[in-house]
Amino acid sequence: MNLSTQQPVKIAPPEGKLGVLIPGIGAVSTTFIAGVEAIKRGIGLPVGSLTQLATIRLGKRTDNRSPLIKEFVPLAGLNDLVYGGWDIFEDNAYEAAKKAQVLESSLIEKVKEPLSAIKPMKAVFEQEYVKRLHGTHLKTEGSKMDKAQALMDDIARFKKETGCNRTVMIWCGSTEVFHRPAEVHQTVAAFEEGLRKSDPEIAPSQIYAYASLMSGVPFANGAPNLTHDIPALLDLARERQIPVCGKDFKTGQTFMKTLLSPGLKARMLGLNGWFSTNILGNRDGEVLDDPGSFRSKEETKLSVLDTILQPQLYPDLYGKFFHAVRINYYPPRGDAKEGWDNIDIFGWLGYPMQIKVDFLCRDSILAAPLVLDLVLFLDLAQRAGMKGIQEWLSFYFKAPMTAPGLYPEHDIFIQLMKLKNTLRWMRGEDLITHLGLEYYD
Ligand SMILES: NC(=O)c1ccc[n+]([C@@H]2O[C@H](COP(=O)([O-])OP(=O)(O)OC[C@H]3O[C@@H](n4cnc5c(N)ncnc54)[C@H](O)[C@@H]3O)[C@@H](O)[C@H]2O)c1
Repeated sequence: MNLSTQQPVKIAPPEGKLGVLIPGIGAVSTTFIAGVEAIKRGIGLPVGSLTQLATIRLGKRTDNRSPLIKEFVPLAGLNDLVYGGWDIFEDNAYEAAKKAQVLESSLIEKVKEPLSAIKPMKAVFEQEYVKRLHGTHLKTEGSKMDKAQALMDDIARFKKETGCNRTVMIWCGSTEVFHRPAEVHQTVAAFEEGLRKSDPEIAPSQIYAYASLMSGVPFANGAPNLTHDIPALLDLARERQIPVCGKDFKTGQTFMKTLLSPGLKARMLGLNGWFSTNILGNRDGEVLDDPGSFRSKEETKLSVLDTILQPQLYPDLYGKFFHAVRINYYPPRGDAKEGWDNIDIFGWLGYPMQIKVDFLCRDSILAAPLVLDLVLFLDLAQRAGMKGIQEWLSFYFKAPMTAPGLYPEHDIFIQLMKLKNTLRWMRGEDLITHLGLEYYD
């Protein structure tokens, strides 16, 4: 890849409809869909979405060129989105949105028609992977390969029925239990053999990811599950020239962590401990009450500080900090999560100080704009001929996927710079380094 020529990348125009396929018609996905439909009708604003609201500075600071991102790169429009999905329950998106209790009933009623039309297809599910849910709307026939084929048939039917020529899949399903990559995940051949033998190491989310890639559909993972972060599926994505990204939307507490910790490090302030606890009462909270599912979440939530603070480079400041994350299921709160952080820091000569953060957030309200941006950017990446892991989309994830041997970039400001520079690179604009010496010549 030649960065010096700065030739614009050839990007196919976003013609026709863009299909959005979502495993998991729950709180996040219905808040996303209802939100887009409300925004289309002028009922609300797409707050939190870079693709809809953010500008991008081009050229020198004196040039005064700051177009909207959506005018700078050719993105699909909101009116072009059509939706489909799978769930282990039969509720259509209107019923699911009502049950999720994220949005007010009055708003949901205004978009009842498009939401009611989204009826989930039967899901591929395995109890072992999500212990707290007991679904009834399932594909039960045959091997895991047969189930992958059934999902591919669903995708083909969806494309035909909606007339969309491009599609993106984004996992908004429940968090599956933690598992490490096994032998069956190492190569495409081993994975396909595993599908035929219904290898227990292959999770339902991996069957969706396989079906997505085999159908030429870019795939994103909004949950912390291993899913496509395995050699077999990453090889498949590259072979088939499909962009992918993940894992785990960076929304509440981890978002705050990636705002605060780069600031502490920038000022060379030390850290003795960071204790994070959460209460939430939605279905996600219920699933995360299971230790296996929580373990997946814990891994992605814990990984952030080590990478940002680099204890190996700054042992005096960050060599010994204690980091714990807890999530408690507390039904009265529903989707309105509360996340507390107690941060023990130290300054000049080691003098201790404390920071307390109490974030009364709304999980799905924070996640919905991320879903929209990921859908639009993944589709852009596909039309720009980009394949494999899209590291420039790390901005959206708690545990960004990277090439083997690369540590992930967690600092949200570096992630944003990377995202915007990738857009500049696509359009043949100068990358912005913030050197700025030319202003003083
Ligand atoms: N809301 C956030 O801020 C946030 C942040 C990061 C990650 N996430 C993750 O996003 C995912 C969705 O969150 P949510 O709040 O919408 O949860 P939710 O429980 O409301 O929705 C998940 C849906 O997935 C369905 N499901 C489970 N297994 C499935 C399968 N195999 N196939 C199809 N459907 C399946 C469930 O029935 C449920 O309807 C969770 O994994 C969550 O951890 C959410």
